[in-house]
Amino acid sequence: MTTKKLQISKLVVDKTFHARFGLNNDAIERYVEMYQSGQQKAIKIQSGSNRVIDGIHRLEAARIAGVDSILCDPLDVPDHLLRKTAYKLNDDHGVPLSKMERNKLIADLYFEDGMTQNQIAELVGLDRTAIAKIIGNVKSHNTDNERKSGDKRKKIADNDWTPIVRLSLSGESQEKIAETYGVTQSTIAEGISKLKNFLLEEYTQGKRKTEVANDFSLTVEETDTILREYGDPLNFELNYQTVWTGGRDKDFGIKHPGNLPAMIAQNLFALYTKPGDLILDPFCGGGMTLDVAQDMVGRECIGFDLTPVRPDIRKHDILDKKPKLQRDPDFIFLDPPYGPQKEGAYSDDEQDFSNLDIDKFIKGMTRVLGYWSSGRVAICMSSLKKKGEFIDLPVLMADALRTQGWSLIEHIISVYNAPASETGYWIEKARTGRWLLRKHLHILVGQK
Ligand SMILES: C[S@@+](CC[C@H](N)C(=O)[O-])C[C@H]1O[C@@H](n2cnc3c(N)ncnc32)[C@H](O)[C@@H]1O
Repeated sequence: MTTKKLQISKLVVDKTFHARFGLNNDAIERYVEMYQSGQQKAIKIQSGSNRVIDGIHRLEAARIAGVDSILCDPLDVPDHLLRKTAYKLNDDHGVPLSKMERNKLIADLYFEDGMTQNQIAELVGLDRTAIAKIIGNVKSHNTDNERKSGDKRKKIADNDWTPIVRLSLSGESQEKIAETYGVTQSTIAEGISKLKNFLLEEYTQGKRKTEVANDFSLTVEETDTILREYGDPLNFELNYQTVWTGGRDKDFGIKHPGNLPAMIAQNLFALYTKPGDLILDPFCGGGMTLDVAQDMVGRECIGFDLTPVRPDIRKHDILDKKPKLQRDPDFIFLDPPYGPQKEGAYSDDEQDFSNLDIDKFIKGMTRVLGYWSSGRVAICMSSLKKKGEFIDLPVLMADALRTQGWSLIEHIISVYNAPASETGYWIEKARTGRWLLRKHLHILVGQK
């Protein structure tokens, strides 16, 4: 950065990116005194355009003090970052913005510059909920702004930029794309970055990856590639404690006698895998894990079952042998039948875990747990009460894990919030018979 002296007539005040509604007289007076005492503090300008990024109070004071030329530091800031840079510099040392000015700035960063709510939250030091609220208020109180800015966002969401983003994803350089479209490279860079930010925002706000892909007319693979650039964004609320509650989510997995809530796999995959990891589900049932992995960033899940019910689940008896994969899985998700409590519910096959007696069941699971020499595994399991006998299968599974060299690294309780068995009839039976309805399952996580 080379400081130079420029005539104040050559400097431009562009109100479109400055957040202030007006100037602060007190600040101007202080700067007038500074100029009159012969001192100067360089203002910041955009190289080339001479637009003032930081120092409009000093410029005004120079005019009043009759100073012809002032010290300027030219900065290489692209147009779409002028507002953000001006805010940051002012925040470091300048006159604080009023609440209204700050709220207008937040809306402009969002609607005009394409920043995400998270990025704005970080910049201005508020949480994302507060940012979302401010943006919502500005929208409903300023219909003009909404129409204008809404159109701008829509233009991008309406895929004007999709072919350009697609070209860029296919490896075409921004320089070449700019040449093809007859625009500057920075216009291309700006457009691509805005579309990517909007896409990330839709995804993190909870839309499924397929829906996001559809909204931006991109393929799921292209959407995944973009999302991976942001690391591991999540489109669901990650659990932060050891009791998880939830019921079946019809969006993930087809109807099946063993459907698990999708949030179990979402949380496990988010906690124990990373983009690029391979997940194996040998008891795939209705395919819930396949759909969950497909909706997360960069996870591949392969599903097997003794009785497959979807074409993307391959037939395999896990009791017989380890399934053949290109490489060993990073994470194994095990949701077998919980012992013989649903005898015959999945199939009549004698290799079906639901048709094994307890002894064979434990031996079978111990054998399965011995197939892999490294990675992470999660076992979903419930205790069993059959013919008056109580068998604590989760405890037995913890033993099986240890026998096969896995160390237990977590134990989660998943509460099913609407068990099918919880009808008035069963509640009454449990009360009068003095026994408890099963309402939770255990998730044991192991590692080796
Ligand atoms: C509890 S269900 C899994 C449900 C699944 N997690 C879901 O959310 O849809 C257990 C599955 O294990 C399968 N299974 C039972 N014995 C098996 C075996 N020996 N090899 C492979 N799959 C088996 C059953 O067919 C059944 O689909």
